[in-house]
Amino acid sequence: TNIPSVAQSQLAYFPVGTIGYNGGITGVQGDLVVKHFNSLVSENNMKWGSLQAQPGVFTYANADAEVAFAKAKGLKLRGHTLAWHEQMPAWVFQDANGQALTPSPASKALVLQREVEHITQVLNHFAPHVASFYAWDVVNEVIDPAQADCMRRSPWYLLTGTDFIDTAFRTARALLPAQVKLYYNDYSTTDVPKLACLHKLVAGMKARGVPIDGIGHQMHISLAYPTPASVNNMVRSLATAFPGISQQVTEMDIKVSDNGPFYASYEDIPPAVHAQLGYAWRNYFNTFRQLGGLIDSVTIWGQADNHTWLTTGSRAEAPVLFDQSLKAKPAYWGIVDPSKLP
Ligand code: G3I
Repeated sequence: TNIPSVAQSQLAYFPVGTIGYNGGITGVQGDLVVKHFNSLVSENNMKWGSLQAQPGVFTYANADAEVAFAKAKGLKLRGHTLAWHEQMPAWVFQDANGQALTPSPASKALVLQREVEHITQVLNHFAPHVASFYAWDVVNEVIDPAQADCMRRSPWYLLTGTDFIDTAFRTARALLPAQVKLYYNDYSTTDVPKLACLHKLVAGMKARGVPIDGIGHQMHISLAYPTPASVNNMVRSLATAFPGISQQVTEMDIKVSDNGPFYASYEDIPPAVHAQLGYAWRNYFNTFRQLGGLIDSVTIWGQADNHTWLTTGSRAEAPVLFDQSLKAKPAYWGIVDPSKLP
C-alpha cells in the first residue's frame, strides 16, 4: 500500500534494520522488508549452531541467501553473532570422546583454537561481500550482574575465563576491514547493575587493547520498562566514559508485559493496547533521535507480528510494527508519523 517507508522516515538520523529468516525474504514478507528497512541482520542463520553444527562442516546456504537478498535490494548488513552461549553445538565444549571438557590449560587452548577456526572460516566465507556489512556482533550476552566479577558462568567463561572475548574481537578485527565495526551486544543494558557491569567489561577490554568499536543495546523491552529517560541516561553515560564509541539498538521489540498476564491469542489484544504500544514506539524513537548521533543504527527484531520469538503457544505478543496480516499498526505510525496515532 501507499504508506511511507519506515527507514525513509528516519533517513536523517540512522538506518532502520530488521531480521532475515527462512521464509522471511521472499514474497510479500520480502517486499515488506525491502520497502520499510535499509539494513538486515540474520535472526539465526549466522549463529554458530547454524553455520557449524558438526565440527568442520560448514553450512552457509541460508545465510548466503540473506546476504544475496540484501545485496540485490541495497540493504546494508549487520553480522550476528560470532561468540554466544546460546545456539552452540555441544561438541565445541567436549573432548574427542564426547565428554564435557573440564577447566585446564589444555581445554582452554582447545576451545580458543576452535573459536579462532570458526571465526576465521566464517569471516573468510563472507569476505567477498564485506563491503555490504557495516557492523558485526562479535560477542553476545556475557554479563551476569549477579556474579561479583559480572561474568556469566557459560562454558566459554568456565573454560577460558575472559580470553574468549578478547580472542573473538582480535580474530574478527584481523579479518574485517575497519568500516565493519565490532560490537559487544547485550540485553537489559539500562538495568543499573547490568550497566555498571557493561562499563566494567568495556573498560577492561579497552585497557587490554581489545579492538571493540561499539556496544549493541538489544532493547527487548516492554510497555512497563525501561523508561525512555533511562535509555537516554545509559547511552550518554557510555558515550562519556568511552569517547567515540558507537552505540546501536540491535534487536528492538516491545512486549505488552514482562510478567503477565499474557494474551492467549493475538485477537485478544485490544485496540487500546496497540495504541499504547504505538505511543511507546514514538517515545523511544524520539529518544533515539534526540541522542543526536550517539545511536547510529536501530534494528527491529521482526517486521510483523506473524513472526516473532516472543509469541509462543500460550502467549500472544504484538511486539513489532505490522500486524499478522502485514498491515501497519499504531507502532508503525508512532515512528513514521505520530500525528496519526489513535
Ligand atoms: O531450526 C531448528 C529446527 O531445525 C528445529 O526442528 C527446531 C526445534 O526446536 O528448532 C529450530 O531452531 C530454533 C531457531 O530459533 C530457529 O527457529 C531454536 O529452537 C530456537 O531456540 C531459536 O530461537 C532463537 C533464539 O534467538 C535462540 O537462538 C530465536 O528465533 C531468535 O529470535 C533469538 O534471537 C536472540 C538473539 O539472537 C540474541 N538476543 C536475544 C534474542 C531473543 O532471544
